[in-house]
Amino acid sequence: MTPASESRNTVPRTTVPSMPVPSMPAPPSDLAWLGEHAAARLPREVLLHAHGPTAASLEAEVARLRALAPGSPGSLTLVDLAHARATAPAQEPAQATGHVPAADLEGAPLAELADAGEESFALAATGDRIRVVAGGSRGLRYGFYAALLGLVPADGEEWTLRSPALSIRMLDHWDNMTVHPVMGQVERGYAGGSLFFEDGELREDLTRVEHYARLLAAIGINRVSLNNVNVHAHEATLLTTRRDQVARLAEVFRAQGITVLLSVSFASPVLLGGLGTSDPLDPEVQEWWRRTTADLYAQVPDFGGFVVKADSEGQPGPFAHGRDHADGANVLARALAPHGGEVFWRAFVYDHHQDWRDRTTDRARAAHDHFAPLDGRFDDNAVLQVKHGPMDFQTREPVSPVIAAMPRTRLAVELQVTQEYTGQQKHLCYLAPWWSETLRFPLGPDGAPTVADTAAGLVAVSNVGDDDFWTGHPLAQANLFALGRLAWEPGVSPDRLLEEWIGATFGPDPLVAEVLRDLLAPSWLLYESYTAPLGVGFMVRPGHHYGPDVDGYEYTPWGTYHFADRDGIGVDRTVATGTGFAGQYPEPWASRYESVSTCPDELLLFFHHVPYTHRLHSGKTVIQHIYDSRAEGCERVAELRPRWRQIADRVPAALHDRVDALLVEQERSAEEWRDQLRSYFFRASGIADENGRPIH
Ligand code: GCU
Repeated sequence: MTPASESRNTVPRTTVPSMPVPSMPAPPSDLAWLGEHAAARLPREVLLHAHGPTAASLEAEVARLRALAPGSPGSLTLVDLAHARATAPAQEPAQATGHVPAADLEGAPLAELADAGEESFALAATGDRIRVVAGGSRGLRYGFYAALLGLVPADGEEWTLRSPALSIRMLDHWDNMTVHPVMGQVERGYAGGSLFFEDGELREDLTRVEHYARLLAAIGINRVSLNNVNVHAHEATLLTTRRDQVARLAEVFRAQGITVLLSVSFASPVLLGGLGTSDPLDPEVQEWWRRTTADLYAQVPDFGGFVVKADSEGQPGPFAHGRDHADGANVLARALAPHGGEVFWRAFVYDHHQDWRDRTTDRARAAHDHFAPLDGRFDDNAVLQVKHGPMDFQTREPVSPVIAAMPRTRLAVELQVTQEYTGQQKHLCYLAPWWSETLRFPLGPDGAPTVADTAAGLVAVSNVGDDDFWTGHPLAQANLFALGRLAWEPGVSPDRLLEEWIGATFGPDPLVAEVLRDLLAPSWLLYESYTAPLGVGFMVRPGHHYGPDVDGYEYTPWGTYHFADRDGIGVDRTVATGTGFAGQYPEPWASRYESVSTCPDELLLFFHHVPYTHRLHSGKTVIQHIYDSRAEGCERVAELRPRWRQIADRVPAALHDRVDALLVEQERSAEEWRDQLRSYFFRASGIADENGRPIH
């Protein structure tokens, strides 16, 4: 860049200084994928053609990173075309090229960018020069982080246009403001307390939230819901008397292009408004939602909307008033619509007062039974938030049939990054391979649209808390990283995401990368191998859901049964003889799941009740699979710690120690799973392990 070219430039342009800015607090050294290794990748020269808050925040970001590492040779040029146009109103968009140095925009796909939306950007890398052009501030930020995370095409490639596949990329926090006597401060949280709240109020110091917002922006997250879907009385007041706390959090997230949402109680008009009813068709109720929502927008003009868990596990909902869930969702949608907000209405509605003797009621059927008939009745700004599987975030489930059944409804698929049923951030469990499988699942014959093609968004329950490593298990950060990246680019391979995460978080050390790959890539299947078998799910301790308890939920009202007895195991969900759940799928899935001969092994016990001697496609009997898989899983878990120790002096000591201690717990717990399950099924079936291993 020469001073001469600058003189023609009507767009404010900054060369961001390469020295630390003393007034900027340095981030903690453990800043996940925005720590020293990411900083080392930032080119030494950064040229910003932009102005406004985003430019200021990117400048601050560069300064923070410079404080961690001097950066790499080369340059990064960032051009915000929205500002280029804004400063040259007489010019046609194409002519905006005249307002930044022509060389920075040479060959850039400006027309496509103009059509691609404000989150898109174009990127080119030649030699050590990276150029990013965006049509707005969000795209500019994503382009910046793409360069930082190494998501750049190989040298010499043409410009590539990058747009998110899914427009909704949201994290749901299940944070309580106070410590709930049973669920703690973060429901199903395994990473300490809430990042946001302490002692019933918003934290005074929101520095960690600022860093968290940067981490999320870097992986493309654009929405965060702040509080638990089970809305307790205290948290309900975030909607009314504690709006100022929402406003403060909104400010922090806004600085990174992220909008905030609130979980609200459907009974708010009664709980907070003093009305006699929450009936969604009551004009006073409608008026209360309109007024309350308008008041909230007066304080938070870019508020994102509401998340609602209604008629579910004791939360109030429209059923109490004889209304359906479209009536319920639409009253909130209509209050939000004038302000551009959305309601995320959860489809997790089922009967949790079941009798295990009744084999006709099936929790897996519930979401489809309740919601599929409502297709087309939801307002445009209502998004139905559907758990990815029909049950409840188990280690293995089929894709929810609701996703294929509601073509006239905007859907968001809900995943659980927090590892409630997948090892609670004590066990290694890299979930991206499964999420990727889910997103690429075709909802019909070959060539049919996939889950990712069908969904408007991806929503996930956050795994983050106030823990020093953010996620309790430091390696569980990989799940958060992968979630954001998959929402942006569902086709990217989980192995590649692992490479990206490792590079940004741990740097270029090849041994570190190799060990982390070996530990993480197979960890979901490894976890599955020693826990509940063949898709049957649960077998966990009631309440906290950690550790094995084969019959823990077997006689409870929660609808989560394996039906193991002396003759066999599994849930008959066929149309022919079972609950009929398999018939909720489109073809070819309905037929494939219906027949025991075509049902995939890993889902066999989800769809069928079979004798222990039933032979799997793998050639093993069900009982021998239970024996072998748990024993072999444990042997493989025992290999993890020695492998991890090979990099003891190559990663930060505190991080190494934490992972090491958790691997000890994973070994202990895996053995407990092995011994409980092998013993239980030996006693139930009376069939010996053909390999003669001890049964405890
Ligand atoms: C699971 C989880 C609950 C949570 C619920 C939900 O059942 O155990 O803690 O409230 O999911 O998604 O609403």
